[in-house]
Amino acid sequence: MANSTQYVLTNLRVAPMQANGENYGGLIENGAIAIDGETIAWVGPVADIPIDYREWPTRECDGALATPGLIDCHTHIVFGGDRANEFEMRLEGASYEEVARAGGGIISTVKATRTASVEELVADALPRLDALIAEGVTTIEIKSGYGLELESERNMLLAARELGELRDINVRTTFLGAHATPPEFKGRADDYINLVAEEMLPQLHKEGLIDAVDGFCEGIAFSPEQIKVVFNAATKLGLPVKLHAEQLSNLGGASLAASFKALSADHLEYLDEAGVKAMAAAGSTAVLLPGAFYTLRETQMPPVQLLRDHQVPISLATDCNPGSSPLTSLLLTMNMGATLFRMTPDECLAATTRNAAKALGFDDRGTLAVGQRADIALWAIQHPAELSYRIGFNPLKARIFGGKL
Ligand code: NIG
Ligand code: FE
Repeated sequence: MANSTQYVLTNLRVAPMQANGENYGGLIENGAIAIDGETIAWVGPVADIPIDYREWPTRECDGALATPGLIDCHTHIVFGGDRANEFEMRLEGASYEEVARAGGGIISTVKATRTASVEELVADALPRLDALIAEGVTTIEIKSGYGLELESERNMLLAARELGELRDINVRTTFLGAHATPPEFKGRADDYINLVAEEMLPQLHKEGLIDAVDGFCEGIAFSPEQIKVVFNAATKLGLPVKLHAEQLSNLGGASLAASFKALSADHLEYLDEAGVKAMAAAGSTAVLLPGAFYTLRETQMPPVQLLRDHQVPISLATDCNPGSSPLTSLLLTMNMGATLFRMTPDECLAATTRNAAKALGFDDRGTLAVGQRADIALWAIQHPAELSYRIGFNPLKARIFGGKL
């Protein structure tokens, strides 16, 4: 019954998460959701179920709370090896930047990723993906960026696509060739950027492996001028862009991204008001990554109030990666959004549903409304605030992916 193509979930509390000015999009008590194939056909109070849906099989949900399936819109979940040794170095006093400059950091993961096969990358990433799925994640973005040469970047993107085949989850792939300068280009970052823009990007796009293009704009990575070269190439191919910006310093990366109508700018601890205004004008989403903030013991807070004041949508993501955010819990990410960044529980849930969808360019998911994909999480909790209030607890009861329970 539950897997039939048409059915109605009943005895729910529903957090629709539409942007209508109400908390959680206006909680519905004793609610129901009619599902037709992969799509939501109707949402509302049980008492109002239209006659057309009354004959469909029902599934009683014991008063569970229904939210949109969660969306993790910024991850580096595919990589080789791990960096527990650098964790030890940092505990002995080295900074993230010092480790990176000493040839560790991203480059140490590049070495481990280049020697891994696609199968090994998939096998390593699966437990991380499964941890997210177990928390009701139904859409995930996965970046390349630890290959930094055509073949290894391709392997990462193939592994990401493969993960989407192996599990009931939607995968968006982002090409992050401009993540770091690989060792063989040391001192020739411009040459590497040209290779990324002129060869790697067009080739991997031709192979159908890229949904969006990202870069790392930072002192230890690339300048705005270098990122611009990559973004121009992406725009020429009709690909949307996003950017790791203002994480450790303010280089004006968010404004640059906004000038390309970026889907999002991410991290943003050092973002200033000019950058916020540029993002607002461009309609870009601010993706905050509290896992990296926490791991690096950052003290500069992202400008949450300015983002609110200028109505920039705020999203939260795990940034799951082996260096700055070895985090595979989107629920804990929401808790950090509240506790570290002082976001409200309503903002934290919007940040991993509606606004995360926006950060990936989707308008068919992220809310529970007629016509949206039937990606739904059912939770054994009373109130949606519990999702960000509890620490290290997973109340997921059931997960519906494209109508499939
Ligand atoms: O999003 N900031 C740049 N990239 C990753 C970190 C990558 C790494 O340290 O391996 C991030 O935090
Ligand atoms: Fe990242």
